[in-house]
Amino acid sequence: MTRGDTLYIAMVGLPARGKTTVAGKLKENLQKDGIRTRIFNNGQLRRKLEPKDTSYPEFYDPKNQEGVAFREKIALMNISRAQKFIRGKGQVAILDATNVSLKRRAVISKLLAGHPILFIECINDDQGILKSSIQRKIVLPEFRHLSKAGAIRSFTQRIHYYESIYVPLDREENLVKLDSLNNRIIIEDISRDIPYFDRIRDCLVTDIIRNLFLIRHGETYFNLETRTRGDSSLTPS
Ligand code: SIN
Repeated sequence: MTRGDTLYIAMVGLPARGKTTVAGKLKENLQKDGIRTRIFNNGQLRRKLEPKDTSYPEFYDPKNQEGVAFREKIALMNISRAQKFIRGKGQVAILDATNVSLKRRAVISKLLAGHPILFIECINDDQGILKSSIQRKIVLPEFRHLSKAGAIRSFTQRIHYYESIYVPLDREENLVKLDSLNNRIIIEDISRDIPYFDRIRDCLVTDIIRNLFLIRHGETYFNLETRTRGDSSLTPS
């Protein structure tokens, strides 16, 4: 029996597009309102469970069956952990992963059928911000054995592999496409009652990506404030 106050949020987007930042901000905001929220991050679980090197780009090649199987296993584990959380006292479970393929999203929809699921896709094609985000990613311990240039090459190639299977949100029942650079909703298509949706929407369009701006070299705090305030409007679908 599904409680009416529970929600799954599935993040969607290529690596380094702000998904984890958005997920963290949503959790912080929902928890402030007393809504029990937890994030289930696939990358973190992969790094925790696999002592072997999984940083090399070919691990993410969709033709690498071993890599695909391992990442599927991680995804299923996190879905199952999220279900356990929701079956207990949890209210909002956020699946923080790329979820870029139709196949992965079909698995999520199938396993969580009967519960409201909100898909949030983070989009950001600003090359400067992307470069800064990649710089932030390569400080992860998994890249420690590589030179800085090697780590950037490796992560960039990983992104290309994800691009090769990337299908933007379109047919999902409840979706939001977010311009994660300008905290602006590009498309909102909601076909059922989504718990906490007003709060979620407010959070998505308010000052969410501040820390991505902060890492943009040369940008002053004053500019940052002006830009985030100026752009915090909702564009209806
Ligand atoms: C990761 O393993 O870093 C992310 C897995 C995914 O979301 O595809």
